[in-house]
Amino acid sequence: MSDSGKVYLKRFSRSERAVHWIHAAAFFVLLGSGLVLYLPSLGAVGDRPLVKDIHLYTAIAWALALLAVWVFGDRQGLRRTARDFNAFDADDRLWLRRYPVKQGRFNAGQKLNAAVTAAFAVLFAVSGILLWAGERDTSFRFAGTIVLHDGLMWISLVLLVGHLHLSLVYPRTRHSLRGIVRGDVEAGWAMQHHPKWVKEVFAESQAASTPDVEG
Ligand code: HEM
Repeated sequence: MSDSGKVYLKRFSRSERAVHWIHAAAFFVLLGSGLVLYLPSLGAVGDRPLVKDIHLYTAIAWALALLAVWVFGDRQGLRRTARDFNAFDADDRLWLRRYPVKQGRFNAGQKLNAAVTAAFAVLFAVSGILLWAGERDTSFRFAGTIVLHDGLMWISLVLLVGHLHLSLVYPRTRHSLRGIVRGDVEAGWAMQHHPKWVKEVFAESQAASTPDVEG
């Protein structure tokens, strides 16, 4: 319980938040530098080699930083998060068909967003490595590689606009920002959006008799 009388529930651990913000920060630099490379009208024609270096080294830093979170962070917690994203049940299918069914820790839209983000990260990395290798050895050059890499960029941009709208603008969902920044969310808000998850949290804290409820 806080001074304001509100109850907060732990939603994201430090490791989860680190994964999110490493991915987000790298994504913005990669997107910005990628757009400059894609659209020469954005400037930097003369600075193209520098922009390319920024793009490449950011991609390497992104991979190393995620690896560091995996090695030094809360691996068990991250595995559990992956399980939460992968658990796609009958309620999720109904929710996607706009039935007002109760949702767990993540709603079906968030699960799809996480799956697409993870798949795109792999496809970006593979196509990026092929583009890099193709500049050094023509046997790695394939007609579809650049189409794939650029196509992923445009689709990601559209998804990002939707994601930012929900987390920064849309009044019903923007309280979630507190979770990804500070780690906890208001229990009342969580009850409205993720009631099955709230039930689980209370059941777990009762079982452990050390409540995971913050004040
Ligand atoms: C300033 C930029 C960003 C903000 C403010 C933001 C905000 C958030 C918030 C509030 C959540 C937690 C939602 C919850 O309570 O469950 C979240 C989750 C997530 N974010 Fe971001 N995010 C940003 C950038 C990005 C970027 C660039 C990506 C990927 C390209 C990304 C991918 C995800 C994914 C996959 C999740 C988990 C699933 C979901 O909630 O949709 N985010 N983000």
